[in-house]
Amino acid sequence: MSAQFPVARPRRLRRTPALRRLTAENRLAPADLVLPMFVKEGTAEPQPISSMPGVVQHTRESLRKAAHEAVEAGVGGIILFGIPAVKDGVGSAADAPDGIVQAALRDLASDLGDSTVLMTDLCLDEFTDHGHCGIVTPSGEIDNDATLERYASVAVAQAAAGAAVVAPSGMMDGQVGAIRSALDSAGHQDVSILGYSVKYASAYYGPFREAAECAPTFGDRASHQQDPANADESLREVFLDLDEGADMVMVKPAGAYLDIIRRVRDAVDVPVAAYQVSGEYAMIEAAAANGWLDRDRTIMESLVSIRRAGADIVLTYYAAEVARRLG
Ligand code: PBG
Repeated sequence: MSAQFPVARPRRLRRTPALRRLTAENRLAPADLVLPMFVKEGTAEPQPISSMPGVVQHTRESLRKAAHEAVEAGVGGIILFGIPAVKDGVGSAADAPDGIVQAALRDLASDLGDSTVLMTDLCLDEFTDHGHCGIVTPSGEIDNDATLERYASVAVAQAAAGAAVVAPSGMMDGQVGAIRSALDSAGHQDVSILGYSVKYASAYYGPFREAAECAPTFGDRASHQQDPANADESLREVFLDLDEGADMVMVKPAGAYLDIIRRVRDAVDVPVAAYQVSGEYAMIEAAAANGWLDRDRTIMESLVSIRRAGADIVLTYYAAEVARRLG
């Protein structure tokens, strides 16, 4: 064996932090991160969420402050979730002009102007007394087409209050088309749609049910959200949403679905988002609290992996913290 062997030494480029930085294939940037925020109607103090340490249900005032700080840190956008004081069967508070999401949007739009991208989750589950994402029939099924009419109205209310992007997350068939046409008819041609196109029926949403107070009172979401066993179906959902007018598409959850993010990224020419959901956050926090994982490293590795899989935009509860760390 000659003294020169081996000629190829991949370790040369890993030798110093500077070399590793120079040759990194993927980077996290604050502008790629979107912060999901919860705002609760009629609460005097921010409410902690026990399964998501560090995340709160904001008051309107505390939301303004935290949103301002996140934007200062450089996050690319904010996606808003609302918890109304009163819920009913059709989720009336979701499209009420003075509903909590609309009120909070107006606050943020006036504080932040065009300095960030204001997005809204567009669904009914936070607003219905049964916790389902749509209109429930007497036999307990979700009525797809009656739900579309509600989504259309919610989209118009959110756009009127200042949402630049609406993100329908209810997995009803035809939701993007119904929303696009309602927005256009109401003069909101410039409001974009980020489809939660690929949304699995996932146990990783567990902590969110506490955060948004939307655990279904009966049944589950498996009749409309996707089976974790399926992959090809995701492309079908993505292409349907694009045909209906989606401007961007999302894969959710992120960490357990990196293969799906990659397949979607390779198949489309629009921005692809991925959502690191509440359960992904809770797992990192729980393990770190026990001293079982290095919290900061795990956060950064989980996020760069989602970027490496192909996501252009990452929704994460760590957005503001990581944006600050990246400086
Ligand atoms: C529906 C919605 C959910 C999440 C975002 N939008 C819950 C669900 O579909 O059951 C989950 C987000 C998370 O777990 O962080 N409004």
